[in-house]
Amino acid sequence: MTSRVKPKRTIANRIHSIAGRLLPDRYRFRVARAYHGFRGSPCVDRPAYDTHSFGNDAEMSSISQMFAKLKGVPGFFNIDDCAHFSLILRTQTALRITGDILEIGSYFGRSTALLAAGLADGEKLVICDAFEADTPDVYIERPSPEQLLSTIRRINPDIENERLEIHVCLSHQLRLDPAKRFRFVHIDGDHSEDGALKDIQMVHQHLLPGGVIAIDDYKHPRWPGVTQAANRFLHETPDVSILADLNRHGESGQKLYLCKKH
Ligand SMILES: C[S@@+](CC[C@H](N)C(=O)[O-])C[C@H]1O[C@@H](n2cnc3c(N)ncnc32)[C@H](O)[C@@H]1O
Repeated sequence: MTSRVKPKRTIANRIHSIAGRLLPDRYRFRVARAYHGFRGSPCVDRPAYDTHSFGNDAEMSSISQMFAKLKGVPGFFNIDDCAHFSLILRTQTALRITGDILEIGSYFGRSTALLAAGLADGEKLVICDAFEADTPDVYIERPSPEQLLSTIRRINPDIENERLEIHVCLSHQLRLDPAKRFRFVHIDGDHSEDGALKDIQMVHQHLLPGGVIAIDDYKHPRWPGVTQAANRFLHETPDVSILADLNRHGESGQKLYLCKKH
């Protein structure tokens, strides 16, 4: 992966961001459309990543209410991801697939807070992020573990300390108990082919039957290594199949959802 830098604060960017905070949903779409035109490209800098507009008379579902809380957190998780993750996590719980949840690459906790909300009784959320340490990808801002924790707690005020396990390290340094079993893993850290492949292979060893691995930025033109890693893994791992490959509102890439067969 070459670099991952937040979009520059251009005038158009500021107008879009202020409008996003102040305007009612029905006007946001128009501002987003004008913004697309100004940028000259419909998919540069994820212009729609924090929109969640529906019909004027639509009542906010519980998932939309959750996204309304998440969208103020810096990050890349959008309304589609929020819906897809919630649906998978709730389906697993309904099917009594129980196990911990793991995220590699939490950043400020936009996706992490949603994963914490999806925990069922007795399950833990395990988090691995480089935090302030250098990674090949460049971020202008870096969260501390305390910032991440405070975001998770603000959005999930009832979560107990012992249900959150934070590993401040690069994913190749992560040492998990061999007996640890996950039902859902979000991989959104190293975007190089080797790094992403090692992450996927490592978490696969801890994945329960019926467990799901969500891989971010699959088929994203800026990070071809992720696609190569996921395709290589699929080719060499017969006990895993594609559950879904889903586009993401305002994004060029997809999230790829892999499921371990029973
Ligand atoms: C794209 S951001 C995660 C965004 C977040 N999941 C979201 O949806 O908002 C990637 C994060 O992974 C971390 N990271 C990058 N390479 C890593 C590695 N090899 N090991 C652990 N964390 C890494 C970065 O520091 C950053 O916080």
